[in-house]
Amino acid sequence: MRKPLVAANWKMHGSREMTRELIMAIRDGVDDSWDTEILICPPYVYLDEASRQLDGSGIALGAQHLNPNPGGAHTGEVSAPMLADLGCTHVIVGHSERRAMYGDDDAVVAANFQAAQAAGLIPVLCVGETLEEREAGTTGVVVAEQVEAVTAAAGIEAFDKAVLAYEPVWAIGTGLTATPEQAQEVHAGLRGLLAKMSDKIASDLRILYGGSVKGANARALFGMPDIDGGLIGGASLEASEFLAICEAAGTPARA
Ligand code: 13P
Repeated sequence: MRKPLVAANWKMHGSREMTRELIMAIRDGVDDSWDTEILICPPYVYLDEASRQLDGSGIALGAQHLNPNPGGAHTGEVSAPMLADLGCTHVIVGHSERRAMYGDDDAVVAANFQAAQAAGLIPVLCVGETLEEREAGTTGVVVAEQVEAVTAAAGIEAFDKAVLAYEPVWAIGTGLTATPEQAQEVHAGLRGLLAKMSDKIASDLRILYGGSVKGANARALFGMPDIDGGLIGGASLEASEFLAICEAAGTPARA
């Protein structure tokens, strides 16, 4: 069984104080009976503070980005070994904001994915289509190409220690959520694509949904057979909303 994973992507939000307070509130609110793995990805500069706050909580720490080089003359950049040194276990790669605004194309995303794994980090690989691509009926092709760019470089075996996240670009930060059926269709397509390379890896792989997930819509999304949790932006900045999402992922639906 795939244990549900709920990951918080704080994006470029927060302060030291917010990091402390939000993590404290999340730690206080988590119920041990929930079958949910939780991951928090704050901005780089708050990773160390977050790492201290999360110590002993069982909640994992991740980064939002990395530079694929292990070290060297790369002013302003942060490497995977540095993230591991700070206590990160995960790192997001291929987020649509990075693809759209910072030139992270499929080759960069594949390099970041491999560099993360080389340092022992679990990459959370994001894929997703734009509104134009959805309206043109090319969603399946677009997300397949994004995933295949990574399987071609890293091999299917690499997905044994990775997480996939489907984040339709039109649903990110817009309040427009994919319906559970729309998301399920894409998740099932992605799992099917990977199953052609390895049944076992595809069936064990967690595929998260991201894009305007909230407490109110989480349970319906997570009730779909191929949606194994969520990657949460805006709602992860509010402890009560984030906790409601974690609860929805890790408790059976009430009759
Ligand atoms: P929102 O939850 O704010 O739509 O953001 C989703 C996202 O991009 C998470 O990586």
